Amino acid sequence: MTTTPYQDHLTLLSCRYEKAMAHLNIDAIVLASGEKSYYFQDDHTHPFHAYSGAQQWLPFSLGAETYIILKTGEKPTLIWPIRDDFWHAPNLVPKGEWQQYWTIIPARKDDKWFANLPKNTAWLGPKPMPFVTPYDGLKAYVDFEKAVKTPFEIQAMRNASIRGVRGHLAAKDAFLAGMSELDIHLAFLQASQQTAAQEPYPGIVGLDEHAAVLHYEHKSIVHNTRSQTLLIDAGASEHGYASDITRTFFRHDDEFSALLNDMDEMQQKLCQNSTSGVAFRDLHQEALRGIATLLHEHKICSLSVEEQLVKNIPQVFFPHGLGHLLGLQVHDVGGHQVDQTGKLSLPDDKAPFLRLTRTLKENMVITIEPGLYFIPMLIEKMKAENSNHGCDLSKIKHLMPYGGIRIEDNIVVKNNAPENLTRIAFATQENY
Ligand code: GLY
Ligand code: MN
Ligand code: MN
Repeated sequence: MTTTPYQDHLTLLSCRYEKAMAHLNIDAIVLASGEKSYYFQDDHTHPFHAYSGAQQWLPFSLGAETYIILKTGEKPTLIWPIRDDFWHAPNLVPKGEWQQYWTIIPARKDDKWFANLPKNTAWLGPKPMPFVTPYDGLKAYVDFEKAVKTPFEIQAMRNASIRGVRGHLAAKDAFLAGMSELDIHLAFLQASQQTAAQEPYPGIVGLDEHAAVLHYEHKSIVHNTRSQTLLIDAGASEHGYASDITRTFFRHDDEFSALLNDMDEMQQKLCQNSTSGVAFRDLHQEALRGIATLLHEHKICSLSVEEQLVKNIPQVFFPHGLGHLLGLQVHDVGGHQVDQTGKLSLPDDKAPFLRLTRTLKENMVITIEPGLYFIPMLIEKMKAENSNHGCDLSKIKHLMPYGGIRIEDNIVVKNNAPENLTRIAFATQENY
């Protein structure tokens, strides 16, 4: 009998959770999507993103106050909120193949759908109800396995990549036409067909020196036909699964674009090296070595690669981690976990912001996002702390108005050749 990718996904999830229930002696698990939260003293709510542990089970974006009940050997149950309310559109149950694998129970706010749950019921999600027993260890147990994606999840991320890339291509055109950061962001949203509230994370759109602010959050309305650099870090989401893409675009062929092109080559090598069995810490170290090589070759730092590594010079220009797990959360869960017990392997002082310390496994989805920025605060710190830094300060001053470079792709780890979701999407959408 042939099965669908969603059906296989559901079978695998049921298997993972049943294993957890058996291991922890749990009779049922409730997964809660969460409730809407309000701005302080206001009647408007924050944009809602369902708890990823609940979202993972369904092939559409999950709304608030939706619950999943899992019991070993039974179809999963979906508690679907009914709203008797003329202020909002009715909350209809989405049609589709998925329905045949579920028991769907529509429930009003005061319905006691939880009344007959067994005594050993665990709760995953915000605001646990009073009847649940705390099961320390359940979250770590299920989070660890979320890193390896099913074919259904990978397909969602392919689709999210295509939408994200359409947005990036429109953003590039808007930049070259001299538009403002705000208009570039709007061009991105239009082409990727989403509102700002639907983005998997707030899109970062920085022109010139703003490219040196890692999480630059403003959107200037100033148009500038002479802006030299655009750094855009923005993605799209497919029923919760994210793409997380960064591109740095330039206007002129010059010293900065030469650096960017070499950085692109280095980034692609790191992507190709993202194969099963590789420790991500080692890949981060390879990235630091790559940055040191670029600094030396482009005459930004006269020290050798080895000398730079000893003095932590690459970290002045590349202060963040090489990447992270990607999934329903942009920085997906479990990046520091060693195993299902929740034991952690934290990053060391040389790479304090590394979000992924695990050894790569087939079908993990990760980002590879080296950066090289001219951040005034870090350059000043280097000057103050390290008199033999070997850096050409006048060259750095010349490059500062360009801000910096980040190139970020989304990679499906394989045993041999990884699947680069981002590059494939660019190749197919370039002439879209
Ligand atoms: N967009 C956030 C990140 O790249 O990690
Ligand atoms: Mn990222
Ligand atoms: Mn990003």
